[in-house]
Amino acid sequence: MKKEIDKYLYEKIIPYRQERREKDMDDRKAYGGVFDKRTLLAFYKLLKKGVIQEVEFPISTGKEGDVFRARRDDELLAVKVYRMATINYKGLSRFIDGDDRFTHIHKTKDTIIFLWSRKEFRNLGDYYNRGVSVPRPVALWKNILVMEYIGDESRPAPLLKEVLNRVHREIGYEIIEEMRKMLKAKLVHGDLSEYNILIWEDKPYIIDVAQAVPINHPLANELFLRDVKNMVRVLNKIGLGITKKELIKEIEVI
Ligand SMILES: Nc1ncnc2c1ncn2[C@@H]1O[C@H](COP(=O)(O)OP(=O)(O)O)[C@@H](O)[C@H]1O
Ligand SMILES: [Mg+2]
Repeated sequence: MKKEIDKYLYEKIIPYRQERREKDMDDRKAYGGVFDKRTLLAFYKLLKKGVIQEVEFPISTGKEGDVFRARRDDELLAVKVYRMATINYKGLSRFIDGDDRFTHIHKTKDTIIFLWSRKEFRNLGDYYNRGVSVPRPVALWKNILVMEYIGDESRPAPLLKEVLNRVHREIGYEIIEEMRKMLKAKLVHGDLSEYNILIWEDKPYIIDVAQAVPINHPLANELFLRDVKNMVRVLNKIGLGITKKELIKEIEVI
């Protein structure tokens, strides 16, 4: 078993670390923290189950997690890995406590990260089933979430932030439509901004939904108003000329 695991890891995952090490010494530190042993085993499990066949390269390395492009047959997938080592455990509990979907779960420092990953998976599913434009959730194992990849063979979809001065006003109206659907799904995103919206083939995709909370959650109001404030700023950059009040009226579920 041990040998088999090593073989998988060496063939499928570790090469990316080495390749990157050669390419960019400075990035190594930020990148190195991802693959603690448990995460490697979780990767192994997903490879072994055939959920993913190949981990290709990192699309994004963040403070709390990293996103990789992977594939299964001809299908591209995005794999989000939450970092076991550097995550802010205490900060996360606030978003889990008070969520009816996650009661009776004993939280320890260790399990909260899995819970957080599960929360993102569940939120993606809830949004997806309500027709919100989010990446389709594919699988979850421990701190690894597999989802639809937005982009194509040549590149991942750009962030709204990167194309802000090029997008058509129509995109702004489509984002408002997505906000309406999110509210209808009774889940407040909570971190909505030009950094968590991808634009692909003239269509917005909402991402990064781990912190989303049900509308009856103690933080829901505050998060909703923050999302609205952020999005008014963004939508006005796209040229919509909209106020907070008008935006709320637009997305309110009648
Ligand atoms: N499904 C996806 N398809 C393509 N790129 C993605 C996908 N999900 C995330 N990304 C890329 O990875 C980055 C980080 O993902 P995100 O979920 O926002 O995590 P965080 O901001 O917590 O690091 C995004 O900004 C985006 O560039
Ligand atoms: Mg993000």
